[in-house]
Amino acid sequence: RKDIEVIDKDVIIIGSGIAGVYTALEIPEGCSIGIITKETLDISNSVLAQGGIAVSLDEQNDSPQLHFKDTLFAGAGLCNDESVWVLVEEAADNIKKLCSIGVNFDKSGQQLSLTREGAHSVNRIIHSGDTTGKEVCDKLIEEAQKRSNISMFERHFAVDLVVRNEKCIGVLVYDETAEKMKLFTARNTVIATGGFGQIYSHTTNPEVATGDGVGMCLRVGAEAMDMEFVQFHPTVLYHPKDKSFLISEAVRGEGAMLKNSRGERFMHKYHELAELAPRDVVSRAIFQEMTISGSANVFLDITFKSREYLENRFPNIFRTCLEYGIDISKDFIPVAPAEHYCMGGIKTDVNGMTNIENLYACGEVACTGIHGANRLASNSLLEGLVFGRKIAKKISETSGANSLTQEETDMQTNFSLNRDSDTVLKDMKEEIQTTMTKYVGIIRNEQGLATAKEILNGIHLRFLDIWGFSLVKLEVANMLTVANLVIEAALERKESRGAHFRSDFDKPDDVNWKRNIVKVLG
Ligand code: SIN
Repeated sequence: RKDIEVIDKDVIIIGSGIAGVYTALEIPEGCSIGIITKETLDISNSVLAQGGIAVSLDEQNDSPQLHFKDTLFAGAGLCNDESVWVLVEEAADNIKKLCSIGVNFDKSGQQLSLTREGAHSVNRIIHSGDTTGKEVCDKLIEEAQKRSNISMFERHFAVDLVVRNEKCIGVLVYDETAEKMKLFTARNTVIATGGFGQIYSHTTNPEVATGDGVGMCLRVGAEAMDMEFVQFHPTVLYHPKDKSFLISEAVRGEGAMLKNSRGERFMHKYHELAELAPRDVVSRAIFQEMTISGSANVFLDITFKSREYLENRFPNIFRTCLEYGIDISKDFIPVAPAEHYCMGGIKTDVNGMTNIENLYACGEVACTGIHGANRLASNSLLEGLVFGRKIAKKISETSGANSLTQEETDMQTNFSLNRDSDTVLKDMKEEIQTTMTKYVGIIRNEQGLATAKEILNGIHLRFLDIWGFSLVKLEVANMLTVANLVIEAALERKESRGAHFRSDFDKPDDVNWKRNIVKVLG
C-alpha cells in the first residue's frame, strides 16, 4: 500500500442525516465510528424536514395497531408487514431517547403536542414548530460531537464501496478539502445517503441528493426495490424565485384548504378525506386541476388563522413566504407538487442488512418495505430512528477486528480531478431532470417511459465519451443509474398503485402486481 491514506474504523457511516447520526449514537461507545458526509454536516434531507415524526402517544385514541393500519393503507398493498410493525411498535421508545438528549418538541402542558397529516386517522405527529428535522439533527450532531469514538468527515465524497471476497470492507472516498483519495476500511459499513430527488427538476431535496447511495451499492451487487414509487409532495411553494420550498402537510393538518385558480375548493371531488387524503391522491388531484385550468399552480388557503397563530406554529413557512411577498395570514400560497421522497432504495431486511455481507442501509436510501407504494406522512424521520437502532444492535452483536490483508486494501490510486467537462456534465444533469419530470413524473405511460429511456440511453452514450474523474461526473453516473432503474421498474409495472400512476393502466391489478419489483445492475 503505497500512496493512499487508509483510515480504519469499526464502523463507517456514509451520510449525516438523522439515519446516519442516530445509528452512530446507538452503537456502543467502544466502537470507533467514522461519519462521512458529502457536504457539511448540516446539509441533508432530514434537516429540511418540516412536519414532524409520527408516533402513537395518545393512549386514549391511538395505538401502534392504528398507526400500523394507516401505514398499510397509505402503502397501497405493498408494505412489508413485519417491517411496519417494527416501525410503529418501537417508535415511542426512540422518541423517548430523543427527548432524553434534549430535542425540543412542542408541548401542550406536559404532553407533546400532536398534529395531523394526510392519511393519518388521528393526531399523532410530534413536531418542533415547522423545523422538526433541523431541531432533531442539531441535537443529534451536538451529541455525536461529544463522543470521542465518533469522528466526522465533511466534504468527503464516497466514490465506491470496496468489496473483497463478497464482503464490504469499506469505502473509497475523495476528500475535497485535501484533494485526495482516501480508503476508509471498516468491519461494517452503513449507507445513509438519503434520496435521489435531484433526478427531477423540482424537488424539495437539497442538491446533494443525487442517488449516490443506490448507485454505489448497486455497482457492488446490491439489490434495489420499489424504485418506481416516487413521492411528489402536493404543496411545494410555486414562486419565480423558489420552487423547492416545502409548505408542510401540517399546514393542511391545521385546516388549510386547497383551491384552484378559480378560488374553488376541489379535493372533496377526489377523495373523502379531502385535503388530508394520501399524498399521492392529493398530488394527482392538483395535477388534474392544473391541467384542466392550464395553470402552473394551485393555492393553499390558511388565511382563516390569525397572523399570531401562524407566526408561532409555522415560523419558518411564515418568514420564508413573507420574504417572497406572501403574507400567509392574508394571501393564498401558490403551490404545486414537486418530487419529495423515494419509497424505493437498497433492499434490506428488517435489521437494515443488504444482500452484501457487512453492508447496511438506513433511511431514505434503504427499502425495508415500510412505505410500500406510498409513504405515510412523517414516517420517514421515524424510519431513520427505528432502523438506525436496529442496525446498531446488529452491528454491536458482531465482534472481531478487521482482518484485512495488505492485498485486500491495495488500491489503484492514480485519481486526479479533471473538471474540464463539468459544464457538459451539468448540462447532462439538467437533461436527466427535464426528461424525468416530463415523462416519469406524477402521471406516466408506456410511450413516455420508452421515450425517457431512449433519451437517457443517448445521454449515457455521450457520458461514456467523457474522460477523467470529477465529482460532478460521479453524480451524473449515479443519477443515470437511479433514473434508469426508476424508468425500468415503471415500465414493468403495468398498473397504477400508490405513487406510480400509469394513464394506460389506470387501476391497481392485484392479481399480477401485488408484489415488489427488485432490480440489480444488469
Ligand atoms: C411535510 O412536512 O409535509 C413533510 C412531512 C413528510 O414528508 O413526512
